[in-house]
Amino acid sequence: MNNCLLVTGGAGFIGSNFVLDWLSSSRGPVVNLDKLTYAGNPENLASVANDPAYTFAHGDICDAKLVARLLAQHRPQAVVHFAAESHVDRSIAGPEAFLRTNIDGTFTLLQAAREYYGTLTGSERERFRFLHVSTDEVYGTLRPNDPAFHEETPYSPNSPYAASKAASDHLARAWVHTYGLPAIITNCSNNYGPYQFPEKLIPLMIANALQGKPLPIYGDGQQVRDWLYVLDHCRALRAVLEQGRVGETYNVGGGNQRSNLEVVTTLCALLDELVPESKFKPHFQLVKYVADRPGHDRRYAIDARKLETELGWRAEESFETGLRKTVEWYLANSAWVESVTSGAYQQWVTQNYGSRDLAEAPASEAMAKEAL
Ligand code: NAD
Ligand code: DAU
Repeated sequence: MNNCLLVTGGAGFIGSNFVLDWLSSSRGPVVNLDKLTYAGNPENLASVANDPAYTFAHGDICDAKLVARLLAQHRPQAVVHFAAESHVDRSIAGPEAFLRTNIDGTFTLLQAAREYYGTLTGSERERFRFLHVSTDEVYGTLRPNDPAFHEETPYSPNSPYAASKAASDHLARAWVHTYGLPAIITNCSNNYGPYQFPEKLIPLMIANALQGKPLPIYGDGQQVRDWLYVLDHCRALRAVLEQGRVGETYNVGGGNQRSNLEVVTTLCALLDELVPESKFKPHFQLVKYVADRPGHDRRYAIDARKLETELGWRAEESFETGLRKTVEWYLANSAWVESVTSGAYQQWVTQNYGSRDLAEAPASEAMAKEAL
């Protein structure tokens, strides 16, 4: 064994940030197993494509033979499992792929990791970890004054996506308890930052605003998310890999609870400032209230004290600094946005937004404008 990592889903949003960050600090080689679904983009990793420490393996985590071969060939010190179908709206439109990748795929990886772990001895066996990257959505939804999700909060997933991630968490937990696989689970809040596919709230709003397209807010826009800058998440994952306790769960959150309307209002103000020549200014005029997401979770919030006290991790980016960096990245990388929003992306936009009725602006919009 060497200090190699087997990363799954490394061509997606969080995975590519993690791989770039890992390689930039020469921590050791990375093998990236990715199927390159619509969400996976090798361009995200173009800067390391010729790095001898980086190997790309195009394939499916459900392919047991391929996973076993990669483990035997590269003998990683850890598997960092990001690969998933990750978009809630797509899980509502078509849950099958979510069950296949998120549940069957995780099962396949756990089985292969278990086999591989069985071949390890001594310090190699001591050191091996399976890091399962999961979400706060497994805990369900919070009311306005409920305490934030902590590691003991009962699971209560509400969307097909959340249910599939919850199932995968249960599998990882069972593989620790039954087979002694040294797995650790992280449950993280909403990430934002470079390379996020523009189907998710923040990059979708940036891309639409820059083109003068409507900014579709589901329902009344008062749903709350706890925003975490993606590189803070990557640091947390490194801390868990290095010092996390086997069989434990760690919650990761940014401590930045914002309503969707607040997020879009702040984004529009940033775009007004950073693109002063825009003919769509003020960008907030592009906001359109549309029919809500079915089963929409009202509020997520993360209690990250376990990670902070045990592993000394802290989110470094405030929402304001992280959002500014994110908008600046999208402005500087318009070619990336163009390349990922052609073709099949347009079909998704028509499917998801074409049939959503427009809704009346709620009273909260006036409040948001006043707050500016
Ligand atoms: P993403 O959708 O941007 O990327 C997913 C990646 O997985 C893509 O590169 C895709 O090609 C790959 N993939 C999908 N199916 C595959 C398969 N069967 N085999 C191999 N590769 C496959 O996702 P993301 O936002 O980067 O999320 C990464 C992980 O983090 C997911 O497990 C997600 O549940 C979790 N997570 C995400 C967030 C968030 O805010 N984005 C928050 C908490 C947890
Ligand atoms: O909480 C962690 C989760 O965060 C991750 O596990 C998921 O992979 C990730 O997609 C994200 O899920 P959300 O559903 O919270 O993210 P999304 O960006 O899709 O939506 C954020 C909020 O914005 C949510 O309340 C729905 C709303 N929204 C979203 C879109 C795309 C809108 O109002 N309009 C939109 O067009």
